[in-house]
Amino acid sequence: MLKISTQLEEVLNRALTKVFPKEDRSPETSSILTRDNLVPASKPEFGDFQINCALSLAKEIKQPPRHIAQQIADQLQKDNDFLQICNAPNIAGPGFINLSINSQTLISEIYIRLKDKRLGVPLKKFSAAQEKVEQNNRVIIDFSSPNIAKEMHVGHLRSTIIGDSLARVLEFCGYEVLRINHVGDWGTQFGMLITHLKEVVPEALHKKDVVEISDLVNFYRQAKKRFDEDEDFQKKSRSEVVNLQAGEEGSLTAWQLLCNQSRKEFQKIYDRLDIKLNERGESFYNKFLVDIVDDLKNKNLLINDQGAKCIFLDGLLGKDGKPQPIIIQKSDGGFNYATTDLAAIKYRLTKSPDGDGAFRLIYVTDAGQASHFFGVFQIAKLAKWIPRNCQVEHVPFGLVQGEDGKKLKTRSGETIRLVDLLDEAIQRAKKDLKDRLKTESRFENESFIDKVSTTVGISAIKYADLSQNRVSNYQFSFDKMLSLQGNTAPYLLYALVRIAGISRKGGNLNVSSKNIQFNEPQEWALIRKLLQLDCVIEEVEKELLPNRLCGYLFELSQTFNRFYDQIPILKASEPSRTSRLALCAITADTLKLGMSLLGIPTLDRM
Ligand code: ARG
Repeated sequence: MLKISTQLEEVLNRALTKVFPKEDRSPETSSILTRDNLVPASKPEFGDFQINCALSLAKEIKQPPRHIAQQIADQLQKDNDFLQICNAPNIAGPGFINLSINSQTLISEIYIRLKDKRLGVPLKKFSAAQEKVEQNNRVIIDFSSPNIAKEMHVGHLRSTIIGDSLARVLEFCGYEVLRINHVGDWGTQFGMLITHLKEVVPEALHKKDVVEISDLVNFYRQAKKRFDEDEDFQKKSRSEVVNLQAGEEGSLTAWQLLCNQSRKEFQKIYDRLDIKLNERGESFYNKFLVDIVDDLKNKNLLINDQGAKCIFLDGLLGKDGKPQPIIIQKSDGGFNYATTDLAAIKYRLTKSPDGDGAFRLIYVTDAGQASHFFGVFQIAKLAKWIPRNCQVEHVPFGLVQGEDGKKLKTRSGETIRLVDLLDEAIQRAKKDLKDRLKTESRFENESFIDKVSTTVGISAIKYADLSQNRVSNYQFSFDKMLSLQGNTAPYLLYALVRIAGISRKGGNLNVSSKNIQFNEPQEWALIRKLLQLDCVIEEVEKELLPNRLCGYLFELSQTFNRFYDQIPILKASEPSRTSRLALCAITADTLKLGMSLLGIPTLDRM
C-alpha cells in the first residue's frame, strides 16, 4: 500500500490546495493542512484510509466540519487519479472522510504480487543525487557481543536474535549491513585468568584445547574471587595485563588460545541459530585509544579528576544525585569500556580506508546499558565525530525472566546455559510432535521427526523473543512458545503447512489478469492484509521493532485461516478457484518472506 498511499497523499494535497488556496491560508490553517492528513483507517469497516483534518480546520476557519469535509470530498472526486484508485469518499461522524480503495486497484496490486519476488516491497536505491550522503547505504549492527572466557547468557541470546532479524530486514530493504560482533576480548579479566591458569593449568596457556569453555568459565570465577580477596594476586594480575598490552609473546599466545576456545563455543550457538556475524572485538580498537584521548583533550572536553581523565555530561547523574563522570582514562593509564566504544564510533563513521564509513550505527544490548550509550553518543556528538546525515541508535531490550517473573535460572538456582535452552526446546517440540503423530495415527521416519522438531524448537525460541515489544521484559515459557495456538512460531509454521497442502492439491496455477475475480468479504480482507506488507517492513526499518512484523504475520495467518475456514477454495467453481488459489500462493510467499526476515526457517510439512 506504500505506492497507493503516496499517490493518495499527492491527490489529497492537490485537493486541499484547491479548496484552501495557499494565499488565503493563515499560519494555523497552513500548519493543519501541511500535516500528515492521510492516515490508515482505524477500523477495517471504515475503509482503507481516513482524512481527519476537517475537524481541526473547523475550529480554525469557523465552519462546520462536515461542510469542510464535503468540500474536500467533492474536490477529490474531480481528480482523475483519485477516481482511478478509490471508491466515492464517505463522510462519517463529525467530519471524517473515509476512503476505500476500489476493487480494480486492489486486484491489479495483488496481481503484481503474484509475479514479484519482493512482494511489492521497494528496494532502496542509493545514488549520489538522491541521497546527498555520497551513495552511502552502509549500516552497522553491533549485536550478540558476548565476553571471552565468560558464558554467553540469555541477554546475549536476545541481542543475537533481535540483531540478526534487524540485519535481515535492513539487508532486504537494500542496505549494506555490517554485522559486527563486538566481543569483550580485552581487559583486566585476562590478567586475572592468565595469572590463575599459570598456577592451576599452565599448559592451557600454550596448548590448544586443554580446557573446555565451561572449565574456563569456572576458572574465571575462581580468578575473580581471588582477585577480589588477595592483594598479591591483584598485583600479579595487573602486571599480566601490562605484559599483554605490551604485546609480550607468551601473553599474546595465551590470550589467543583463550579467545579461540570461547570463539569455538560461541560459533556452535551461531551455527545452530543460523546467525552470521563478523567478529571485531574490543581489542581491535586498542591502537586507536591513545589518539581518542588526545582528540578529546584537544577539544577541551577532558577534566582531570583525581588523576583520571573524565568527561561530565549535562544530565548524567550518579545514584547519589551528583554529576557522574565518564572515565575515559583511569589514573593508572588504563582505558575503559566507554573509551573503546568511543574509538569504535569514530572508526565506524569514518570513511574508508580509515574506517567503515557507515551512516547508521545500531547497538543491540540490554536496556541496562542505556546510560552507557547515552554517554558515549553525547561525547561523540561533542567531539563532532557524528557527521550530518549519520545516526547512532541504541536498541535496548528488557530482561529475560522465568515464568515466576524472576531472573531465568535452573531449578537448582544456576544460570541456564544457552545450549541447554535450545536442546530443551527441541526435545519438547519432539515430544509434542510424537504425541500428535500418534493421535493422528500417522507414521513418519526419524529424519522427518528430527528436522521438524529442530525447526520448531529453534523457531519457537526465536519467535517468542521477537514477537514481544523488545523494550519490555520477556517471560520465557516453553509451553507458551511451543503452543500451536496464539502468536507463536508453531502457529505460523502450521498456517504455512496448511497452505502448502492446498497448493499441492490445487495443481499448477494458471492466473491471468482476465480470470482473476473476487466477490467475498473474506477474500477482500485477505487481499488488504497482504497489501500491508510493504508498510510493515518500512516501519521495522525505521523503528527497529521486529515485533511489528511478527504481529503482522500473525494477523495475516488469522485472516487467512478465516478465509480458508469460511469459503471453499478447491471446490469453488472457476474463476473463483484459481483466484483463491492465487491468494493462497501470495499468502504463502508473504509468510515465508516475513519469517525469513525474522531468521525463522519454514517447513512444507509438519
Ligand atoms: N560485551 C558487552 C556485554 O556483554 C556488550 C557489547 C555491546 N556492544 C558495544 N559496542 N558496547 O555486555
